Amino acid sequence: MITNEQIMWTRKSSGLTMSQFARWLGVDVQRLMNWEAGMHSPPADVEARIRKIAETIADAERSVGCFRPFEMRHMKLRNRLVFPPMVTRYADKVGLVTPRIMKHYQAVARGGVGLVVLEATSVRMQSKLAGLGIWDDAQARVLKSLVDAIHAEGAAVAIQVADGLRFTGRRPADLSEEEVEEIIGAFVAGTIRAFQAEADAVELHGAHSYTLADFLSRRANLRKDHYGGPPEHRVEIVRQIIGRVREQWPHPNIIGVRINGEDFVAGGNTLRDSCAIAAELEEAGADYIHVSAGARHEDGVNSYSMSRCEPNAGFADATNIHFAQEVKQVVGIPVIGVGKIPTTGLATRLIEEGKCDLVGMGRAILADYDLPRKEKAGAGDQVRRCIYCNKCLEAIWQERPAECVLWEEE
Ligand SMILES: Cc1cc2nc3c(=O)[nH]c(=O)nc-3n(C[C@H](O)[C@H](O)[C@H](O)COP(=O)(O)O)c2cc1C
Ligand code: SF4
Repeated sequence: MITNEQIMWTRKSSGLTMSQFARWLGVDVQRLMNWEAGMHSPPADVEARIRKIAETIADAERSVGCFRPFEMRHMKLRNRLVFPPMVTRYADKVGLVTPRIMKHYQAVARGGVGLVVLEATSVRMQSKLAGLGIWDDAQARVLKSLVDAIHAEGAAVAIQVADGLRFTGRRPADLSEEEVEEIIGAFVAGTIRAFQAEADAVELHGAHSYTLADFLSRRANLRKDHYGGPPEHRVEIVRQIIGRVREQWPHPNIIGVRINGEDFVAGGNTLRDSCAIAAELEEAGADYIHVSAGARHEDGVNSYSMSRCEPNAGFADATNIHFAQEVKQVVGIPVIGVGKIPTTGLATRLIEEGKCDLVGMGRAILADYDLPRKEKAGAGDQVRRCIYCNKCLEAIWQERPAECVLWEEE
C-alpha cells in the first residue's frame, strides 16, 4: 500500500500546489490532506495514478545530470560516468590480458558507466608500468577481446597509453633527440594498435610524473631545445604524437590527454601552467582533457603530492574538482573531473554546476562495480561504499593485485 510520505513526496516533487494536485487526481483537497496526514488511504485507482506520477518524476530525475547521454565526435556514451584508469596488476607479467582482468572490466562495464578507461597500458617494454602492455601487435590482438567484452556490456572504451621513463632513472633533459623520436614513435604505434583493437579512444597519460607528464612539467623538463621551456614547447611531444596519429590513422577515433591540474610539488606545474597546457593541447588536436592531480614522485610515495592523486578519507569530496573547473574555462573540448567523487548525486551536481562535462569515479566503483546501476534505480542504500582507505593502492605499490578490502565482507 502507498504510504502518506510517498503521496507527499509525489505532490511536492510534481511542483504543484495542494489544490492543483488534488484537482489533477480528481479529488477534493481535504481528502488529499487526510491521505498525506496518514488518516486514510486512497482508493486503488487513485493510488495507481499517484504511483504512475511518482515513477515518471523519478525517471525524469534519473535522466538528468550524470545519467544523460553524451557525444564526443563519433563516440556515443550512454551516460557521463567514467571509470578512470586504474592499474590492477591483474595483467600477466608481459602485460597481456588475463581471464581475471577480463572479468574485472566486464563487471565495471556491466555496472553501468558510460566510458571505461583501461589502466595505464605501456607503449615500451623497457620502461613499462605495472599494467597492460601495447608495445607489440600480439598484445593488441588480445586486447581486442577485452575491448569487445566491454562493448558487449554497453560501455565505450578508452585505453590509457603510458610510459615510465622515470623507472629508468632518466628525465627529459637526459634524452637525445633520437631518443625523443623513439618515444614519440612508441606512443604513435601504441595508439594506432589501440585503435586497431577497436578502442573508441586513447588517453595519453600526461599526469602523475610518467613520461609525458615529465615533458609537460616545469620542474622535470629542463630541455633547452623545442621540447623544453615554456608550456607551448613542453607540449611539443604530445603535439607530435597527436599529429602523427592523425596522419597515419584515417578514422575519427578520440585522443584525450590526462594531465595534472596541479603537481603539488615545489617548482612543479601550478594550475596556471596546467590551464596553459590544456589550451595548447586543444590546439594540438586533443579531443578531451582528463584533469587529475599530484602523484609527482619527487618527494616520495607518501608525499602530499601523492595523496592528492588518490585523496583519502581525510579529504573533502571532489577535492580536485576546481582544477577541472578552471581548465574548462580555457578549452572548448570536454573535460573530465575526478578525485573522491563518491555518488552519482554529487557527479550530477558537478556537471550541472558546469564544473566538468564527465565525472570519473574510480575507487567508489572498485568497491561496488554496480554503483551506477544501483543509484540509477534509486537503490543507493544497497551500494557498498568505498571508505577511501587506499588499501587497493597500497597493494599496487607492494606488487599485489588491487583488491578492495570491502570485498572480503562478501
Ligand atoms: C589502485 C589504483 C590504480 C591507479 N592507476 C592509475 C593508472 O593506471 N593511471 C592513472 O592515470 N591513474 C591511476 N590511478 C588514479 C585514478 O585514475 C584516479 O584518478 C584516482 O583514484 C582518484 O579517483 P577516485 O577518487 O574516483 O578513485 C589509480 C588509482 C588507484 C587507486
Ligand atoms: S580498498 Fe579502500 S579505497 Fe580502495 S576501493 Fe576499497 S574501500 Fe575504497
